[in-house]
Amino acid sequence: MELTKKERAMLDGEMGKAAAKAMEILVAVGKIYSAGRMVPVGSVQIAGVSYKTIGDAGIEFLQGFADTGAKCIVPAYLNPAGMDLLEWEGMGVPKAFAQKQLEIVGLYEKMGVKATCTCAPYQIGIVPKLGEHLAWSESSAVCYANSVLGARTNRESGMSALAAALCGVTPEFGLHLEENRKAGVVFELECRLKDRYDYAVLGAHVGKIAGERNPAFVPRAEDKKPTNDMLKLLGAAMAATGAVALFNFKDATPEFNVREGAEKIVVEQKMLDETVAKMNTGEEPELIAIGCPHCSIDEVCEIAEKVKGKKLGAKKLWVCTSRGVKAVADAKGYTQVIEEAGGKVVCDTCMVVCPIEQMGFGITGTDSGKAAQYLPGFCKQKVVFRRLEDMI
Ligand code: F3S
Repeated sequence: MELTKKERAMLDGEMGKAAAKAMEILVAVGKIYSAGRMVPVGSVQIAGVSYKTIGDAGIEFLQGFADTGAKCIVPAYLNPAGMDLLEWEGMGVPKAFAQKQLEIVGLYEKMGVKATCTCAPYQIGIVPKLGEHLAWSESSAVCYANSVLGARTNRESGMSALAAALCGVTPEFGLHLEENRKAGVVFELECRLKDRYDYAVLGAHVGKIAGERNPAFVPRAEDKKPTNDMLKLLGAAMAATGAVALFNFKDATPEFNVREGAEKIVVEQKMLDETVAKMNTGEEPELIAIGCPHCSIDEVCEIAEKVKGKKLGAKKLWVCTSRGVKAVADAKGYTQVIEEAGGKVVCDTCMVVCPIEQMGFGITGTDSGKAAQYLPGFCKQKVVFRRLEDMI
C-alpha cells in the first residue's frame, strides 16, 4: 500500500505504540482487500461494546490499547452497550454483567471515544455529509450512512473501527470507491408499503435474496415517499438477513445508480407474508421491545400516542433509544405517557445486546426485521414479529 509520510511514521512507531499497532491493523486489512492507499475519515462508530458480544477477550484487547496511551484523533462514537448505563439495576441486569460493562465503556472513554451508546448517531446530531468517508461498524448505521446520507463507509469490525479512530484513516476499498456503489439487483415493489413495519418486513425478505449485492428499489407510482425512519428499518433488516451495506430507493435516496445488466425481481405481498410467517416463532410476548435501530423522536412520539391511556399489565414494553433522544422525549412528555402505560424508555442498549435471556425473558415481540432475525440465535428467544399496534 502507498502510505503518506504521516501514516508511515505511525506505522514505524514514531507516534507511539498504540498508533503503530492500529496502523498495522489497517495496513493488514488494506492488503487483504487490495486497497491502494488510506483515506481520511470524518468520524468513526464503534460496535463491539456489549460485554455480551465481546466478553473477557474483548476487555483484554481494549485494555492492551488503553494501557499504551491510545487516543482517538477523529470523533469516535460508541454503539449500544449491554444495559442502560444509569438504570441497569431497574432493568434487572445481573450485577456481575454490569461491572464488566462499565469497565468496557470506561476503557473506550479513556481512549477518547464518546459514550453515545447508540446505533443511530445520525439522530443525535452526528450527521455525515454526502460523499464523506467514514469508518462505521454497526451494520444498520453503516447501511443508513451509505444509503440515506450518501456517505461512504465499509462495514468495519469493532477492531478496525477503533484502529481508524486512532489513526484518522481507513483503507480505501469497497464502498469508498465509486465503482462499487452501483446496484446489482433491482426490486420492483408490488407489495404494501404503508408503515415502518412494512419496510422492516420488506428488508427481512430482500436481505436474503440480495446477499452481498447492493439492491435498488422501485416502488409503485402511487406509493408515498418513505420517511427516513422507514428507510432505517429497511436497511437494518437487509443488513441482518443479508450483508447489505448500501441500497438505493427511487426518489428517496441521494444515489440511484444501477449496474448495466442488473437482475430485476418483482416483490409481491404474498412473498412477504411467507417471510413473516417463517420469522414468527412465538405467540404471546413477555417483552415487547421497539427501537431496533434506536427510535427517533418521531417514533417515540408515535409509540406514546399508541399506548396513551392504556395499561400494559404484566407485559414489559421497552422503547430503546439514545440518551439524547430520551432527553427530548422527557421534555415533550412522551416518556411520562409511556411510563404511565407501564412501559419504559430504555437508553444505551437494546433487546439484542442486553442479556435478556439471563433476565427471565423467553418470548420477545418486535416490529424490527433486524431484531426478529437476531433474537432467536443471539438471545435464545421465540419471536413475535408484528406491528406494534397488533401487539398492544
Ligand atoms: Fe441497534 Fe441493537 Fe438493533 S444495536 S440496530 S438496536 S440490534
